[in-house]
Amino acid sequence: MRFRHLISIDDLSRDDIEYILELAEKFLPVAEGKKKEKPLEGKLLANLFFEPSTRTRMSFEVAMKRLGGEVINMTAQEASSVAKGETLADTIEVVSKYADAIVLRHPLEGAARFAAEHSDVPIINAGDGAGQHPTQTLLDLYTIKKESSLKNLKIALMGDLKYSRTVHSLIKALTLFGAEIYLISPPSLALPEELFEEIREKVRVEVAELEEVIEEIDVLYVTRIQKERFPDEEEYLKVAGSYKVDAKTLERAKDNLIVMHPLPRVDEIDVSVDRTKHAKYFQQTFYGVPVRMAILYEVLAENGS
Ligand code: CP
Repeated sequence: MRFRHLISIDDLSRDDIEYILELAEKFLPVAEGKKKEKPLEGKLLANLFFEPSTRTRMSFEVAMKRLGGEVINMTAQEASSVAKGETLADTIEVVSKYADAIVLRHPLEGAARFAAEHSDVPIINAGDGAGQHPTQTLLDLYTIKKESSLKNLKIALMGDLKYSRTVHSLIKALTLFGAEIYLISPPSLALPEELFEEIREKVRVEVAELEEVIEEIDVLYVTRIQKERFPDEEEYLKVAGSYKVDAKTLERAKDNLIVMHPLPRVDEIDVSVDRTKHAKYFQQTFYGVPVRMAILYEVLAENGS
């Protein structure tokens, strides 16, 4: 087993990441329903989501079920003992007695690391506040590998770089692959200074405008402005709707540019992009299934690595 818990992308080496991406490729026909394999038969996964989710929760459930395992869900806090004041520590202690692994999404940064200290079984971080979203990063890297290339990659990260946990995880992983990175955001949503300095020591990274780099980049990774992360609504309203990519924006792009987004989107990618050859965000969502199969197999299978 290469890792027991998956809390941060920092827990993985480039070799670990490449191993997961290769395993995901092996599971792709199972994810597509073209082949049956049941290595997780008899295993039980608990999905604990203290924040809304469509893709992460459902793709973990699909991944587990297609591999022969079963899933229990706790999504509505009102329907669980969390509503009676039960702590996260106690919830994890209890659920780890029922399930073989726990997928946890929580609004507080550091919640997954804290949960791992209270769990008898592997914890997989499905997003902790503005902290990390490592399984999203693995599926993002898989998408880039499948639809573009991780070699000599030029990528622009656009949108909310301050609060976006998908960006915070992805940018760290990109340094392992020597990517050239452009940062595009409203000034108030710039990448945190400490993270910028950390990245700058490892790869070429520049603050840019989309018009300056659109002809050069291989990947445009767009994120939503997350209303729920702003301490006050006025600050959110100052930046809401401040950037938008549409089909016209992409007219000067390379033929093989791909546009990615972790989704959900609000208005930052116009639907006119959906019909272009550049749009890969729905395919990206599907790739969450084979990648999460690989992660579940790694932490749960008796004969994993
Ligand atoms: N990308 C992502 O985390 O989507 P959900 O919030 O729907 O899980």
